[in-house]
Amino acid sequence: MSMFEDLTIPQKEFNKTVLVTGGAGFIGSHVVNSLVEKYPDWHIINVDKLDYCSNLKNLAPVEQKPNYTFVQGDICSPFFIRHLFAVQNIDIVFHFAAETHVDKSFWCPAEFTRVNVDGTRLLLKAAHESGVQKFVHVSTDEVYGDSTDTAFDELCPRRPTNPYSSSKATAECSALSYWKKHEFPVIVTRSNNVYGPRQYLEKVIPRFILLLQQNKKCTIHGSGLQSRHFLYVDDVTEAFLTVMEKGLPGEIYNIGTNFELSVTQLAQQLIKTMKNLSQDADLDDWVEFVKDRPCQDLRYPLISDKMHKLGWKPRVSWTEGIRRTVEWYEENPHYWPEKEALEQRSQPLAEG
Ligand SMILES: NC(=O)c1ccc[n+]([C@@H]2O[C@H](COP(=O)([O-])OP(=O)(O)OC[C@H]3O[C@@H](n4cnc5c(N)ncnc54)[C@H](O)[C@@H]3O)[C@@H](O)[C@H]2O)c1
Repeated sequence: MSMFEDLTIPQKEFNKTVLVTGGAGFIGSHVVNSLVEKYPDWHIINVDKLDYCSNLKNLAPVEQKPNYTFVQGDICSPFFIRHLFAVQNIDIVFHFAAETHVDKSFWCPAEFTRVNVDGTRLLLKAAHESGVQKFVHVSTDEVYGDSTDTAFDELCPRRPTNPYSSSKATAECSALSYWKKHEFPVIVTRSNNVYGPRQYLEKVIPRFILLLQQNKKCTIHGSGLQSRHFLYVDDVTEAFLTVMEKGLPGEIYNIGTNFELSVTQLAQQLIKTMKNLSQDADLDDWVEFVKDRPCQDLRYPLISDKMHKLGWKPRVSWTEGIRRTVEWYEENPHYWPEKEALEQRSQPLAEG
């Protein structure tokens, strides 16, 4: 269904209506698939503008389900957003839609402000005015800036260091101001790096997998000592459903893991797995260090006690998660138009 077609569709009565923005992207699509399966008496509406990093194939498991509707639309279009909230009685919003690639944010920061800040503001206003009961605003660990030693809890200040994280921090402030000013029930989540099947190729894990599949070297920004905490996408999906069911309005929830790898270690693990190397000495043949980002955060350790108190903990081990992920990319080599993706990018892509 396209942006301006009639949205007053549901043929049958549903108990709730959930709007997911950015649901054709990586995390959003996993959440949509899960919501549609777990809540057959809820109507799940997925709004996505179908940007380069999205794929309707991500929604194949649910596209025929009676409680699922896809609408191609832009959260930055005031007319569309007003129309959407006017014709649908939306109870819950999951706001995933965003410009998400850190490297790209250095090339076109204004686009990140437009989508992540202005788009969020527009959505908040419409959701507030239409009486939405819960608005889950999806943010990121990157808003904390980096830390070499202490882990961040939700009270730590925001110190974003790149245009992506700055736009996400600003969007969070808008969301939380709706709680402070109007008691509009906003919940903010900040998660570590997420990985798993169907992630677009610009992010570090699929990028390394693709390069190795093409017998190319893994390109690593700067020293490669920067590390990331990696959460498997099924665990993050569970976290979002937990927040929806048990999260308190006005609260911020870190969604984190203790599992941490430097980008160099990540590349080495993938090289060993995919190239069956018998000697560590051969690892260097598959790694190339390239110019660093203008600003590179070292790590984002999170304290996730608040989520643990809601009953959520990550359950998929790294060994299992990365096995499933590599297997998926090996079984689906043509899922993304990878050649085009590589050629579109003039700079090597890396950690994001
Ligand atoms: N991937 C991670 O590791 C990670 C970690 C923490 C937080 N997050 C946050 O989670 C959310 C989802 O991330 P992801 O990795 O799934 O991103 P993604 O890039 O895979 O998906 C983003 C989706 O948003 C859509 N979109 C972009 N602009 C839009 C617009 N103007 N209107 C409608 N749709 C639009 C895109 O088409 C795409 O489908 C983002 O808000 C991101 O900041 C991601």
